[in-house]
Amino acid sequence: MIDLLVRNGVVVTAQATFPADIAVRGDKILAVGAWGSFGDAALEVDAQGKFVLPGLVDPHLHMAHPFKDQVSDDGVYSTSVSAAFGGTTTLIDFAIQWDKNKTIPEIIQQRRAQIEAETVVDFGLHATPTKSTVDTIQSVVPAAELGVPSYKVYMIYRSQGRMVDDAVLYGLLEEMKHKHGRLMVHAENASIAEFKQQLFLEEGHTSSEYFPLFKPNIVEAEAVNRAIYFTHITGSRLYIAHLSTREALHLLKNAQSAGDDILAETCPHYLVLTDQVYRRRDGHNFICSPPLRSQEDVEALWQGIADGSLAVISSDHCGFGLQQKNYGQGNFSLTPNGLPGIETRLPLIYTEGVLKNRISLNRMVEVLSTNAARIFGLYPQKGEIQPGSDADLILMDGEQTRQITARQMHGNVDWTPYEGMVLKGFAVTTILRGKVIIQDENLMAEKGSGKYLPRKIE
Ligand code: URP
Ligand code: ZN
Repeated sequence: MIDLLVRNGVVVTAQATFPADIAVRGDKILAVGAWGSFGDAALEVDAQGKFVLPGLVDPHLHMAHPFKDQVSDDGVYSTSVSAAFGGTTTLIDFAIQWDKNKTIPEIIQQRRAQIEAETVVDFGLHATPTKSTVDTIQSVVPAAELGVPSYKVYMIYRSQGRMVDDAVLYGLLEEMKHKHGRLMVHAENASIAEFKQQLFLEEGHTSSEYFPLFKPNIVEAEAVNRAIYFTHITGSRLYIAHLSTREALHLLKNAQSAGDDILAETCPHYLVLTDQVYRRRDGHNFICSPPLRSQEDVEALWQGIADGSLAVISSDHCGFGLQQKNYGQGNFSLTPNGLPGIETRLPLIYTEGVLKNRISLNRMVEVLSTNAARIFGLYPQKGEIQPGSDADLILMDGEQTRQITARQMHGNVDWTPYEGMVLKGFAVTTILRGKVIIQDENLMAEKGSGKYLPRKIE
């Protein structure tokens, strides 16, 4: 009757920490009970000395992300493998309308097929329209019918053809209010950033140390302010991606206090790195948008995680390798944006957050797993340990210490922003829908074994 029994572990959910065994039948959790309360099982996993967490959910990452005539070195398969080793069992990737001749439903179906063929973990999709036209707004209903009730729009990257204008931002918010969707924004003020970039380039200030200066805090804060105001006026639902500044956090807190339905995430790199890295010889590798910020911002963001104003820590993983990062030879305006980090999300937050008493273990589970599942319509199938939920479980070793090096990572990126950091809190076993897919550094999942997750937001 029991296919898999995870014995002798300490279960950690968003709500509680308690010793328990977990019985699994098929791909679902059958029961959670005291140690020793279940009989024999076809397969047992001994979790003694380990924490047992719900599989992590990452609602923001980029796999095989295009840049010029290439895609990021980390493709769909390699990123999903890296995710599995890092304890992430559910991803929500983006169906980006790179080809403006294709409709949003076509883009969704194409991206779904591409990921389904390769991923080893489960996945959903956000739609990312790039056209400021009425059909973008009208695509909300057909996208929801394909299980995609969340959109992400770029408020920047005009020259790359990814930005949508304010009319579409506003229109999507109006449409999503009535159709039970949530709009995610990459909030940066395009005009200020473009203007400053032009000035720096004209003055020959192209090295990475100028990168954070071209996108100062106001660039994020103004765009966040605008998106919040639109959401307030429409009464809709907003999710702010990769929030990085104390100014934007302040605006978020005010909006939440006023009762607006506005949620936000930050990412590990905004919590453990600062803009000082841009002065390094390899500073161009750290170019990501928004840029890394000051220590003051870092401390404010941890406070925002602890007090509940920031709901999620996503990876925003985007795996460009060193050669790709060197495109433009350090010129910040030519360097592909984005940092790899899907595999290091858990140990970074455990070490820097839990072990430094900034957040509790339960809060860590909430921001790395449960909240993303709740917000994006996957709860309680994902992000929870209770009867009926998918048996997505990870065993986390809170004691094992590793010094991070790129060679340990299991994706296809030849560097890590966290090289040399000494961390604890690694996922040593990963279980997806009742099947052990990672154990003792071995991958036991086949390419394409991850499932598409159609979602609904109530
Ligand atoms: O710098 C970031 N966040 N890069 C991720 C990929 C993108 O273009 O949004
Ligand atoms: Zn991103």
